[in-house]
Amino acid sequence: MLKSVNTLEHHWMPFTPNREFKDSPRLVVKSKGVELWDHNGNRILDGSSGLFCVAAGHGRTEIAEAVYEALLENDYTAPFNLAQPSSFEMARRVAALTPEDINHIFFANSGSEAIDTALKISMAFHRARGEGQRTRFVSRERAYHGVNIGGTSLSGMVKNRETFSGVMPNVVCMRHTWLEENRFVRGQPENGAELADDLQRMVDTYGGGTIAACFVEPVAGSTGVLLPPKGYLERLREICDANGILLVFDEVICGFGRLGAPFASQAFGVTPDIMTMAKALTNGAQPMGAIAVKDEIYETIVNAAPEGAIELFHGYTYSAHPAACAAGIATQKIFDEEKLFERAAGLSGYFLDAIYALQDIDLVTDIRGYGLLAGIDVQPGSTPGARGTLIQKQLFQNGVHVKFTGDCGIPAPPLVATREHIDEMCAALRKTLEEFKD
Ligand SMILES: Cc1ncc(COP(=O)(O)O)c(C=O)c1O
Repeated sequence: MLKSVNTLEHHWMPFTPNREFKDSPRLVVKSKGVELWDHNGNRILDGSSGLFCVAAGHGRTEIAEAVYEALLENDYTAPFNLAQPSSFEMARRVAALTPEDINHIFFANSGSEAIDTALKISMAFHRARGEGQRTRFVSRERAYHGVNIGGTSLSGMVKNRETFSGVMPNVVCMRHTWLEENRFVRGQPENGAELADDLQRMVDTYGGGTIAACFVEPVAGSTGVLLPPKGYLERLREICDANGILLVFDEVICGFGRLGAPFASQAFGVTPDIMTMAKALTNGAQPMGAIAVKDEIYETIVNAAPEGAIELFHGYTYSAHPAACAAGIATQKIFDEEKLFERAAGLSGYFLDAIYALQDIDLVTDIRGYGLLAGIDVQPGSTPGARGTLIQKQLFQNGVHVKFTGDCGIPAPPLVATREHIDEMCAALRKTLEEFKD
């Protein structure tokens, strides 16, 4: 039975305290550029690009028109054994941005599906090369790889997995990369590369030949922006190479300019075997995820199948949907024409200066940042996460939206933001955090 009858009751909202939200809803009814408007007519600055999606800003007419035209021209084509042209163009554009040896793109509809697909491609690759005994996966504490059973199995965030005991077996976690001694370090910390030796310990404990892949977010995003210490990703790469383990970079947040380069892979100079991406792939305007793999992975799986046979028994009804491809192509054109990745790199210094200036606030216990992405830890209240939730709500009242995970705020403005937007966001953050003085 419904507890109360209002027009919000029927929608069971994701990752939301439904009862509390429906008593005091925050509805966004309009968005343009870096700004949102709520149902009371208040203007709010979007300090986290929605959920790290809207890199080119809201309300891009080029994207809306491309989607509209695509739907009128050809609204849906079955993606199995049939195709529509824009999927090939979209794949070509993504492959042009990925590192040199990574040229084959599989499409899904979200970051979570991209992760499931990457898990299955890893299994299929090893099986195709006669190493089907590699069934173990290595992930990391505090990892967020989405919410499907694959991503939940890889999850290193307790709340995301404690309710769901029936996840994939054979997943082991390395330690996360937050270190007390690195508090308030800007960019990649000098200390901590040795944390990558946890992967070596997994090899020594379980046997390198049993491990299929090691999944990491190059910068762990949703948990609060944990940077890889200098040398850390390089060390993971070495251990993977020495043991035939695939290295998977989950670039769902890092991708498409967030770190001032197309992907974290280029920002940090380490090339994985598989990359997962979503979010800014279409500027958030259509659901889409993608998995980019090294040529060797594609060729091994494809060549292992008999002539004329399906090589990978995997795909989604909406893989490479025409509307998503249209949005994706229009988005990639904007990134290119407006040089948004370079713009993000140019704005990063100003952004990080403004964010790190908040460290004098008593409540702030750590700040981390790179590119246009930052994590601001606040002193937890009586229950972990409770204060973060209150701060996020108050910040919205004070005119800025920033995503919070627990007691960490994660500013990540659209790549089109100006210095004035950053000043406005940081002024509201300061005002709000000071309202919460102990
Ligand atoms: C690193 C990472 N991987 C995967 C996902 C899951 O993406 P989606 O919510 O599109 O399923 C997210 C979402 O925030 C993410 O940050």
